Amino acid sequence: MNTKSALLFPTDFTWGAATSSYQIEGAWDEDGKGESIWDRFSHTLGKIANGDSGDSACDYYHRWRSDVALMKEIGLNAYRFSISWPRVLPKGRGDVSRDGLDFYDRLVDALLEADIKPYVTLYHWDLPQCLQEEGGWPSRTIITAFSEYADLVSCTLGDRVKSWITLNEPYVSAFIGYLEGRHAPGHTNLHEALEASHHLLLAHGQAVQIIRNNCPNTKIGISLNLTPQTPASSSVADRDATRHADGMINRWFLDPLSGRGYPEDILRSYGDRMAFIQAGDMDKIATPLDFLGVNYYARNITRSSEVKEAENDPQTIFPIDEFTEMEWEVYPQGICQILKRLHGEYDFPAFYITENGAAFRDQISPTGQVEDPDRVSYIKRHLKMILEAIVSGVPVRGYFIWSLLDNFEWANGYSKRFGLIYVDFKTQQRILKTSAKWYQQVIRENSIILSTMKNLDQTTN
Ligand code: GCO
Repeated sequence: MNTKSALLFPTDFTWGAATSSYQIEGAWDEDGKGESIWDRFSHTLGKIANGDSGDSACDYYHRWRSDVALMKEIGLNAYRFSISWPRVLPKGRGDVSRDGLDFYDRLVDALLEADIKPYVTLYHWDLPQCLQEEGGWPSRTIITAFSEYADLVSCTLGDRVKSWITLNEPYVSAFIGYLEGRHAPGHTNLHEALEASHHLLLAHGQAVQIIRNNCPNTKIGISLNLTPQTPASSSVADRDATRHADGMINRWFLDPLSGRGYPEDILRSYGDRMAFIQAGDMDKIATPLDFLGVNYYARNITRSSEVKEAENDPQTIFPIDEFTEMEWEVYPQGICQILKRLHGEYDFPAFYITENGAAFRDQISPTGQVEDPDRVSYIKRHLKMILEAIVSGVPVRGYFIWSLLDNFEWANGYSKRFGLIYVDFKTQQRILKTSAKWYQQVIRENSIILSTMKNLDQTTN
């Protein structure tokens, strides 16, 4: 096998980019849209950097046609986006907003027209505020509301949408939203977080059954943020802490989805706090999936709180000295490690990388260009590692860059730019960054060896 063919991707590989409703749409209260927990949270003083909110974001609600044209220009063969639940069901259940549904209906038609396959995420964190007032994810009644929503959307779009993702990163919804409080609804209550995580998984299992019933010949999955955990040293304390962190972030979701129930070690650490689980729940959560969506950004080096600096093992691992603007370590090997582990330890039939990407301090040059060699390098090195996993037998079917557009980065507001496309948030001007042009070539050649764009490729290895 020569180097060139080694860097070729499988012929039917899916090349995409991803976004989410709250992060790009804007139009937060237009055409009858209901309030979401992210509207409420970002309108609360002090929650978001610089007092930003998603009120107008990328104004995509009005500019989606030209944004689809940019996707086509890049050559994407797939686009992952989420539906805003309160845009289609302003009160979370009951009355449907025709305008809201029509928005997504037209978007799907335009994508198909442009030869771009829609990958629809049902829930990317913008819960209707009305449902939060009934208790939100910690309340079991949310499951019937989510089922109604999944039914409505899959009945409306299911004749054309063939790939569905029920939830994006339930870990973040449950533990950052209800325990750490850095995300909406901003609560800090472990009991709520545990209930939320269980109800998210149950709602997911129920939605898989609903979508499968409504739309034959569709592929259904869930996207998890999976973070490989590395012990900071070989000490027993660090290794234990690492196993615990892996259990809380990764196994807590992977195991029940795979029919193994919640991991025993973590359940034990929660004592009797999971007593609310009911008969039949674990079977519903384990409804078989067609694929697992993997969101990967960085690894996590775990240091036990019991290990004092002075006791440092000389072998202590520190992050490699390369970070993104999020202060996340650049660690491409991690994506290969997690894929091989998932394939070795679990039974998912296929994988998609549903998010991978990086924030850097992008600027417009005097000639109006946005050069982002660091992002090109980041993506290229991750793609190499994905290919290594594929060559070793892991069934990875596609890759979605986070993100298509610079957008509202949650509690960081507009201060972190992840896009292939630069967005000037004052004028809403879009500029294709160097990475978008580089990705265009990758897609065209189905390879990370780029014969025609050497100039864009020089800085990377
Ligand atoms: C995520 C989120 C995205 C973030 C991205 C960068 O799934 O964590 O889906 O919304 O913007 O991950 O932090």
